[in-house]
Amino acid sequence: MSRAFTAQVIRNVPLDTHHFLLEVDTGEARPIADAGVAGSAGFAERAGITANTGITANAGITANTGSRRNDGVAPDVVVAPDVVVAPDVVVEGFSPSPGQFCMIGPSGAVEPFLKRPFSVLDYGDGKASFLIRVCGKATLALKNLPAGRSIDVIGPLGRGFSPEMEEDEPLFIAAGGVGIACVYLLLKKHPRAALFYGVRDKRSLLLYDMLRALSDNIRVTSDDGSVGVKGDVISALAGSVTEFLNKPARKNPGGGDRAVKICCCGPHAMLAGAASTFASLNVELYVSLEERMACGVGACLGCAVRTNAGYRTVCKDGPVFNAKDVVWNF
Ligand SMILES: Cc1cc2nc3c(=O)[nH]c(=O)nc-3n(C[C@H](O)[C@H](O)[C@H](O)COP(=O)(O)OP(=O)(O)OC[C@H]3O[C@@H](n4cnc5c(N)ncnc54)[C@H](O)[C@@H]3O)c2cc1C
Ligand code: FES
Repeated sequence: MSRAFTAQVIRNVPLDTHHFLLEVDTGEARPIADAGVAGSAGFAERAGITANTGITANAGITANTGSRRNDGVAPDVVVAPDVVVAPDVVVEGFSPSPGQFCMIGPSGAVEPFLKRPFSVLDYGDGKASFLIRVCGKATLALKNLPAGRSIDVIGPLGRGFSPEMEEDEPLFIAAGGVGIACVYLLLKKHPRAALFYGVRDKRSLLLYDMLRALSDNIRVTSDDGSVGVKGDVISALAGSVTEFLNKPARKNPGGGDRAVKICCCGPHAMLAGAASTFASLNVELYVSLEERMACGVGACLGCAVRTNAGYRTVCKDGPVFNAKDVVWNF
């Protein structure tokens, strides 16, 4: 169940010049109090209000109608200029599943108004953390938030990685760059999985100690060879997967004739490369897609992608899709 709440920044940890870890307090989360827009009546909130996003989203309703209520109890939450989500009231903990994301932004921010999507890196003990690459206004604003400042969070959102797996079934995970944020929880849930982590160079290798604390089955590749194996991560992954598939079934506990499961997050070119590489193999490939998002809850259709079943929204129907369902432009 998704929630819309205001949380406090615990700390902001720079990892290098472009990346930082944002740690927020979800234990003391309050409902979002005000969208911070001139004219907003503000939302008289009750603790524990959650946005049952996507289910009661009302596209096309003009923003700044903070006093409008859908059921006489729950206040609406403005998630984009023309989108108001009418939340259901649910008091529940913040417990994202691997691959889910949140829309976050500084509380009361007018510029940039829209919250931005970020994968939940980790959570627990009343805290959640996000790995963020600074690339524009919103990410810079988040980077500059001091401890104690409030941020608005809507989430967890979307469908994450949920391959149905037997206990002993092999799983391969591949991440490119900041895509590692999207698969960290997955590795935590499946510590025996093989993680393939592709980076540009040694300086771009993020969170390695945290990953090593979960698993010693990590293969790093880098574009320039300054860390791990020189080359692209999908080629390295393909080598291991092919080797695995070619082993006699008895040497692959849990393998046999079952499709190998791969979960992948990274730049679009990497995901398209994976889809093309594994298309003819006995592989179930799940990819986490990225599109620019406005509402994050399936209401504005701004993040629609083509699938074999028609257009689907990345924020609500994804971000994780079976690669076979996506129409790729190779
Ligand atoms: C489901 C999902 C999960 C994400 N998880 C993370 C995460 O864990 N860590 C992280 O650092 N980033 C993540 N992103 C990307 C992040 O949302 C964008 O980097 C952020 O919105 C940029 O905001 P900005 O205002 O700083 O930059 P903007 O000024 O909005 O954009 C700066 C540049 O980045 C490009 N850009 C912006 N958003 C996207 C996008 N969604 N896909 C591709 N290019 C984009 C723009 O075209 C532009 O060139 C995720 C995106 C999605 C859709
Ligand atoms: S961002 Fe609005 S539908 Fe996905």
